[in-house]
Formats: sequence, C-alpha cells, structure tokens
Amino acid sequence: MFRPTYPIRTTRLTLRPVTLDDLDDVHAYQRRPDVVRWMLGAEPRTREQSRASVLAMAGEDALRAEGDCLTLAVATDAGVIGAVELVWRSRLDRTAELGYVIHPDHWGRGLATEAATALLDWGFDEFGLHRIYARCHGRNDASARLMARLGMRQEARHVESYLFRGEWADHLVFAILAHEWWARAATAEG
Ligand SMILES: CC(C)(COP(=O)(O)OP(=O)(O)OC[C@H]1O[C@@H](n2cnc3c(N)ncnc32)[C@H](O)[C@@H]1OP(=O)(O)O)[C@@H](O)C(=O)NCCC(=O)NCCS
Repeated sequence: MFRPTYPIRTTRLTLRPVTLDDLDDVHAYQRRPDVVRWMLGAEPRTREQSRASVLAMAGEDALRAEGDCLTLAVATDAGVIGAVELVWRSRLDRTAELGYVIHPDHWGRGLATEAATALLDWGFDEFGLHRIYARCHGRNDASARLMARLGMRQEARHVESYLFRGEWADHLVFAILAHEWWARAATAEG
C-alpha cells in the first residue's frame, strides 16, 4: 500500500484525505456549473450527490492496487477549496493520471499549480512513478495552461474524438516523465 505521509504542506496549502466534515466545502464547488463546464458526464451536484462523492473520496487515501484513485483535499486556513487526484493507471508502466479541481473563487492564484506540484512530487519521489499524464477538453484553457505550467508536454490533440454534450470535441493529452520533473525541479532550485 502506498500512502503519503499526511498532511502534505505547501507554502499556502495543506493536502490531506477528504473527510465527511468537508461536505459543505466540497458541495460549494461541486454545485457550480462553471466547475463542471468541461467535464464529460459531469453535472452540478446536489448536496446528496456531494455527500456520496465525499464518502467515496474519503476512502481514496492511499493507492492499494492498480486502478485506485488517490484523492487529496486542497485546504487553506479557511477550509477545503478543491481536490487533486492521482489515478494509478498501470503498475507495469508506473503510470498515473492527474486530476484537479479548485473552487472558482480561488482560480488564477496559482493554487492548482501549487497543489498539483506537491502531488507530482509525491508521485515521482515517493511512489516511484515513471510517467504522469493528464487529459482535458480541447477548450478547457485553464486546465491546458495548468498542465503546461507544470512543465507537462502536450503529446496529443485527438481531433473530434469524443462526443461532449452532443458535439464532437477535441481531447488534449499532456504528460511528464520522472527525469523531466526532476530536471525541472533542479532548474527551479538552481
Ligand atoms: C483547471 C483549474 C484547476 C485551474 O485552477 P487555478 O488554481 O485557477 O490554476 P492556477 O492559478 O494554478 O493557474 C494555472 C494556469 O491556468 C490559468 N487559468 C486559471 N484560471 C483560468 C481561467 N478561468 N481561464 C483561463 N486560464 C485560467 C492561469 O492563468 C495559469 O496559466 P498561466 O501559467 O498561463 O498564467 C480550475 O480552472 C478548475 O478547477 N477548473 C474546473 C475543473 C476542471 O476543469 N478541472 C480539469 C478537468 S480536465
């Protein structure tokens, strides 16, 4: 079993497992149409749907088997403002997929970058991943810019590859390798 040492602290944030006490905070962003705007199959959630989501996320505190999702609440002193996650896609290829969501009141302050950076650090340094990728709708500019800002390389644009709310949509794929992540960290420190 692979479990981060909690809490993970960054300059402005604390990352730790989700608990049922976070329901109000999680629902505050899950209920918003702007949060699910580019997410396939996602609709704004009712409080009961958020409760089910929080209960599910609360169990995602460690990676036990391939396919598991590690979900961390992104918290400030004021409460939970979002979540970051790593889905363990392949044990053999040591590959995981990154995901993230931040409450719109806090967009554009570099908080997703800060939280995702800490999770990528754990994924490469502690968990021993070789590759982390992420995907988004071709028009999800904030997500694409976040991936680029993290140093991930855009590897694909699958043109009109899926039906999104009844229309053909492009899918972007970004990725970064462990040695690229470490080289980047060394440059930032140097
Ligand atoms: C994607 C998301 C997590 C980014 O969160 P954030 O905390 O605002 O991100 P950061 O402040 O760290 O900024 C990362 C980059 O996104 C840009 N950005 C932030 N909000 C943006 C917006 N609404 N529109 C366009 N760009 C935006 C930032 O300017 C920055 O780019 P830069 O390096 O060119 O300056 C947030 O927009 C979100 O939760 N979106 C809804 C959920 C979602 O779509 N998740 C991804 C599904 S694939």
